Amino acid sequence: MTNIQDKKLWGGRFAESTAPLVEQFNASVGFDQRLAEQDIRGSLAHVEMLGASAILTPEEVTQIVDGLHVILADIRAGNFEWRLDREDVHMNVEAALRDRIGPVAGKLHTARSRNDQVAVDFRLFTKEAALTLAQLTRELRRVMVSEAEKHLGGADGQPVILPGYTHLQVAQPILLSHWFMAYAAMLERDEGRFRDAAERMDESPLGSSALAGTPWPIDRHAVAAALGFARPTANSLDGVGSRDFALEFLSACSILMAHLSRLSEETVLYSTFEFGFLTLPDSHTTGSSIMPQKKNPDVSELARGKAGRVFGNLMGLLTVVKGTPLAYNKDLQEDKEGVFDSFDTCSVVLRLYAEMLPRSVWHAETTLRAAGRGYSTATDLADHLARSGVPFREAHEVVGGLVGTASRSGRQLWELTDQEMRDAHPLLSAGVAAALTVEASVAGRQSYGGTAPERVREAIDAAKAGLAE
Ligand code: ARG
Repeated sequence: MTNIQDKKLWGGRFAESTAPLVEQFNASVGFDQRLAEQDIRGSLAHVEMLGASAILTPEEVTQIVDGLHVILADIRAGNFEWRLDREDVHMNVEAALRDRIGPVAGKLHTARSRNDQVAVDFRLFTKEAALTLAQLTRELRRVMVSEAEKHLGGADGQPVILPGYTHLQVAQPILLSHWFMAYAAMLERDEGRFRDAAERMDESPLGSSALAGTPWPIDRHAVAAALGFARPTANSLDGVGSRDFALEFLSACSILMAHLSRLSEETVLYSTFEFGFLTLPDSHTTGSSIMPQKKNPDVSELARGKAGRVFGNLMGLLTVVKGTPLAYNKDLQEDKEGVFDSFDTCSVVLRLYAEMLPRSVWHAETTLRAAGRGYSTATDLADHLARSGVPFREAHEVVGGLVGTASRSGRQLWELTDQEMRDAHPLLSAGVAAALTVEASVAGRQSYGGTAPERVREAIDAAKAGLAE
């Protein structure tokens, strides 16, 4: 027989004690203690409201509030004993409160259930996490924009030119700044997704109680306001039973990681000996224990790899939720670890890229040379013909023939003879091909959103204005 102090908070109807393996299996305190701050904030708002609604006396409220503050201080100081037999963060805090202030602690749970308690704790956490990631995403975007600006006028005042790829085959020359601004655009939407999700989850489920609401004359609006929520949830079953706020958060994390994984793939590739476009800083690369020459892009590789676990967290929770009847089911206890993990993973990857990119060095001569290879200006030559009235399809065919001739003889387009050019089309000449430099190609792409330096300058200015808001 357990003594009354150690009896489960829900133990009233139970004659037998819980089997040890069940106790371990059932417990979430190992991970949900991370919600302690949110749990106590929720309890404080709840008990103040119980006092204001004359459900508890002012003395009872004071005792409970003071006790909760001491417990919070203990937890922050690392002086709190988390007990597995107390199952989760909620019952650990409540039982510790009872240990400290006696039976009056039991009044805290008036008009409340662990179902709405965990729902409010977890919403508080996830909302803060979403806003934190929105901010970190913004910081990385700021880095992208400043890198874009830095490389718009390189050391020689010339913008850095990079080969642009489709199918990872050289396609057309682009500005490195344009490449950075592409990631800035993705990150802007990522930030927006976090903010949208935070706004949609900005509702307090507290007061939904177990599932059906409560007969106590509570004030859910006051509690919501005290906790910084925009409003209370409008349906008690939904309030305790829904986790789409966590799914949205995990979705936003997944899309962000998909973007950062593409960035990772490119930084891995461009920093290879074979490409030689990019040198990553020593501070953010690692060596090999056997091969002395190695400098490995571990940060990028790990970021690319960690996308896997972040996607997994989303799939995991979707699968947990999909078969559960309304309202709360213990399955939902499985909602937390994935959110914690995705939050931690996204945070560190965002911070690492914000550190690493400004310390990385781009090799403008190498990228320029690479941008000129692979017949990257062939489209410009076709456009030249088409501007003279030749239908673009026909121009494409003519230039395709020239690329074939050039590649079979190991030459560039501008190395073809005047005769070869004129044979292909009377409007062509060696001079025309010679004028098609990568610089001219980039400068010509003046369409809105294109890679011409003026357009990229505008994009950078617009992004800076947005970031200054
Ligand atoms: N530890 C639980 C969870 O994370 C708290 C809610 C428990 N509710 C219940 N009716 N058993 O989901």
